[in-house]
Amino acid sequence: MFIVFEGIDGTGKTTQAKLLAEHFQKLGRTVLLSREPTDGPWGTLLRNSAETGRLSPEEELETFLKDRRQHVAEKIAPALAEGSIVILDRYYFSTMAYQGIRGFDPQDIRERNEAFAPVPDLLLIMDLDVDSAIERIGARGDSTNEFEKRSSLTQCRETFLSLSGEPFAKVINTKNTPEQVTQDILEAIEQCKV
Ligand code: TYD
Repeated sequence: MFIVFEGIDGTGKTTQAKLLAEHFQKLGRTVLLSREPTDGPWGTLLRNSAETGRLSPEEELETFLKDRRQHVAEKIAPALAEGSIVILDRYYFSTMAYQGIRGFDPQDIRERNEAFAPVPDLLLIMDLDVDSAIERIGARGDSTNEFEKRSSLTQCRETFLSLSGEPFAKVINTKNTPEQVTQDILEAIEQCKV
């Protein structure tokens, strides 16, 4: 089973992905819990570029694709082939959202990715209104920054929600308590017949 967590910052994706991995491990399943950008060379370059100066939109998109190709080839595909449960904290839907903001067409990005990246069995869209997200990530203060943050979070959230009609997608309301969110995720998995 291949499960992907997506959503804007502040939705608790990382925490819930970890809890879900532990849940399956307790049941005796083998789990690959991984994230993008990865800890490999391309992912590291991307993470560092957040501090050392952002890449051009083209270079950034190409680097996310290289990172993902390597991730799929070396980790995701082998784990799925041996019957492990694969849980990802971000995947190509984040490229649609975040590189979409930088001017690329989300649908083109999706097609480029689906040419090599397997579609998940379940996409958990961790949803939160932008005000609450700003609150949680502590981005209040400097008004220019907050304005930019607000507009990019709004656009990303819209891209994620535009995927809610996909048969493999489920929107999770992360305004609820963490316990309720976990419950909703487990229910979504229950309903996902693979
Ligand atoms: P994030 O999950 O926030 O990592 P962390 O909390 O560990 O720093 O991801 C880092 C950033 O990378 C996030 O702002 C979204 C961005 N991103 C893209 O722009 N495109 C992508 O394809 C992916 C996977 C992430």
